Amino acid sequence: MTLPTNSLLAEADSTRERTNSALDETTRASLGQFMTPGIVAEFMASMFRDLGPEIRLLDAGAGVGSLTAALVHEALGRKPKPRTIEATAYEVDPVMLSGLREVFDTCETVARRAHSRFVGRVVERDFIEEGASFLAPGLSRNGSPPSFNAAIMNPPYRKIGSQSPERLQLRSAGIETSNLYTAFVGLAIRLLKPGGELVAITPRSFCNGPYFRPFRHLLLDEMALLRVHVFESRSRAFRGDAVLQENIIFHARKGARHGKVILSTSVAPGEPVAERSVPYAVVVDPKDTNAFIHLPTSDEDDEMALRMTALPCGLADLGITVSTGRVVDFRAREFLRDDPGPSTVPLIYPAHFNGGFVAWPKAGGRKANALADEDETQALMVPNETYVLTKRFTSKEERRRVVAVVSDPGRFPEGVAQLGIENHVNYFHIDGRGLPKGVAKGLAAYLNSSLVDRYFRQFNGHTQVNATDLRSLRYPNLDTLKAMGKRIGKSFPGQERLDAILEDAIG
Ligand SMILES: C[S@@+](CC[C@H](N)C(=O)[O-])C[C@H]1O[C@@H](n2cnc3c(N)ncnc32)[C@H](O)[C@@H]1O
Repeated sequence: MTLPTNSLLAEADSTRERTNSALDETTRASLGQFMTPGIVAEFMASMFRDLGPEIRLLDAGAGVGSLTAALVHEALGRKPKPRTIEATAYEVDPVMLSGLREVFDTCETVARRAHSRFVGRVVERDFIEEGASFLAPGLSRNGSPPSFNAAIMNPPYRKIGSQSPERLQLRSAGIETSNLYTAFVGLAIRLLKPGGELVAITPRSFCNGPYFRPFRHLLLDEMALLRVHVFESRSRAFRGDAVLQENIIFHARKGARHGKVILSTSVAPGEPVAERSVPYAVVVDPKDTNAFIHLPTSDEDDEMALRMTALPCGLADLGITVSTGRVVDFRAREFLRDDPGPSTVPLIYPAHFNGGFVAWPKAGGRKANALADEDETQALMVPNETYVLTKRFTSKEERRRVVAVVSDPGRFPEGVAQLGIENHVNYFHIDGRGLPKGVAKGLAAYLNSSLVDRYFRQFNGHTQVNATDLRSLRYPNLDTLKAMGKRIGKSFPGQERLDAILEDAIG
């Protein structure tokens, strides 16, 4: 039997397509307008567990109301049906409003026919400003804050500067975050009443990024994650819109006890879904002060996580530090030189990574090879000793996320006393000085292993490798690293051999 509400989904989807093609491209970027296809909206709505008889729904950044429509469809298909659904939709772009009102009218009609009641409220105001004003102590100019028991959202994505009006408004409400999407979710969390459920589709970047740490604490302190869904294909969740971020959908309940978490995956919307249930501590390690969110989506992932956590050392236990290269090239432009000269020092970019070592200089490359050796640049340099370097940004085509090489002083021309390390590179050192060569080779071998790659992908869904990520890994002890280093010759072996070296070393 066709549900009477199917026409609601079809209408919401055609309104979305019509409005999507009318959007201004500049506004699309500044307001983060990537609209949710009907099939994804339906999937999100199906995740709610207890909708109850009176649904008070928040749809912040509502677009044309596709998510509310999907929730109404879902709720009216359940037994018992809700008596009322009150939806509050925030939307600032006037282009969306007529579509949003049409979709809400249809929600009302469909609910009435199903002997339920839909009351839609379209709020043409900035959700950050209004949400924060509800929550900021002493600032509420809008009466008492609304109390929602459900929130569904595909929030806009855009960085917000540390002194922007949005950031100050959020700060007044006790929310510290640097992206609009985490700001939207953060406000929704605060506006939900205990027991209220949230389903959101967002980029995956909040799971590990250092800037998202306060947001992770807010999310994990106030809510219990119930389910996280990962789309394996980056581009297919938002077909039609050019979205290259890896997206996840998460479902959480306010104030609930941390129990099991369902981790599910599908290649793309509409494709078969694989599900598994894991203990909470597998997703968020209670000892991790960074509160990274790990998403091991297969048994093989579990095994990798077990092997990683069984390693004996944190980076600090090894006496090793990881830092970001000090030469920010666009700030040091006047000191950059294409080719080495009499008063320059080598400057190392990712372009100099080659077969496990730094290969310098690189003739005919697009990047500078040298940094002028002047008073102003001394603070940017490190002694020419042995370091392990990793790329901060790997391309999607690269097989591994972490790409490590050894910077070996013996491979630079005689007389090179100092080096510049560019800002797209992280480097491992001991109090600003080099590492013993054997340890460095072993450490680079470890970082280039499949174990690190597979584990890394469980908490880092993008191509950026932060120093914090590298600090969060477990490491073999110094003796093991040395033993591994001994087995690396003048060049690094292929992946299989490298993995076998680690295997032999850690058993
Ligand atoms: C990613 S789109 C999602 C739209 C819709 N929820 C959907 O799933 O198709 C985000 C929406 O938020 C709106 N928006 C952006 N900034 C906003 C703000 N500060 N307050 C309210 N809405 C905002 C945009 O105009 C856009 O329609």
